[in-house]
Amino acid sequence: MSEPLVVARLRAAGCVFAEDEARLLITAARTPDELSAMVERRAAGLPLEQVLGWAEFRGLRIAVDPGVFVPRRRTEFLVQQALLAWGDDPPKPPRHGGLPAPHTPGPPRPPLIVVDLCCGAGAIGAALAAAVDQAEVHAADIDPAAVACARRNVPGHVYQGDLYQPLPARLRGRVGLLVANVPYVPTGEIGFLPPEARAHEPLVALDGGPDGLDVLRRVAAGAPHWLAPGGHLLIETSERQVPAAAAAFAASGLAAAVATSADLDATVVIGTLTVRAGAPGPCGRSA
Ligand SMILES: C[S@@+](CC[C@H](N)C(=O)[O-])C[C@H]1O[C@@H](n2cnc3c(N)ncnc32)[C@H](O)[C@@H]1O
Repeated sequence: MSEPLVVARLRAAGCVFAEDEARLLITAARTPDELSAMVERRAAGLPLEQVLGWAEFRGLRIAVDPGVFVPRRRTEFLVQQALLAWGDDPPKPPRHGGLPAPHTPGPPRPPLIVVDLCCGAGAIGAALAAAVDQAEVHAADIDPAAVACARRNVPGHVYQGDLYQPLPARLRGRVGLLVANVPYVPTGEIGFLPPEARAHEPLVALDGGPDGLDVLRRVAAGAPHWLAPGGHLLIETSERQVPAAAAAFAASGLAAAVATSADLDATVVIGTLTVRAGAPGPCGRSA
């Protein structure tokens, strides 16, 4: 199948970025038969990432199988906020006479314990592992298909089960960063999602209950048992869910802040388990 034919087939199927997608499919296919099969699956409505078998996320290739939630670019903002909260995402170095300022290394830090709950394919955990030296990453999801993907993507421990239930007890009170992109679409709005999501991503990955916040509330309620003093819980929401989401954080005793990105159309609620003055912070940091 030639490139113009691929483009024509994709365009006829309604793919808006037919040229870009054609190039990716042609590069990924190992044989002409494989290319035809991939083009037909895409034309039938499968998300491009599930056809290719990967999604790009913060410069990483995240393996994504059919039937698994496709990591969204918007969720890169959650990772960025987690790194800011942890202090490992330094602002660009000031420039002196056109040259970057010399880097002065600080004292070495002990390993950061990261938990990616509702991990799906594990994009968030993989990105944090790539960004933080010596992160000990744990990830968990209830869906066995997601867990199988995450085991290929996350350089760490991946568990299957309901929220915190499968995590090892030794993590209690020791987690520095607890991150979660939970399902947060209100049940009544599932029908308005694009067909790609409705037909090819599991309901358990999308449906957050009547107001979209059922899973978020459960994650917030459990967080204080797992966070280290001074540790952070970060959850992606929609902008209109912020008041109720922040209230759920506050009800768990977490000090809540909100960050938004207009560029990525992303909103993140950031909770911190506050510490008494002088008490040790996560992994020995003082608060
Ligand atoms: C919106 S997807 C996000 C996946 C991934 N974090 C990402 O950003 O690409 C939500 C994920 O939560 C998982 N999930 C839903 N309910 C869960 C529960 N009670 N316990 C664990 N995982 C759950 C789903 O299987 C799905 O993979």
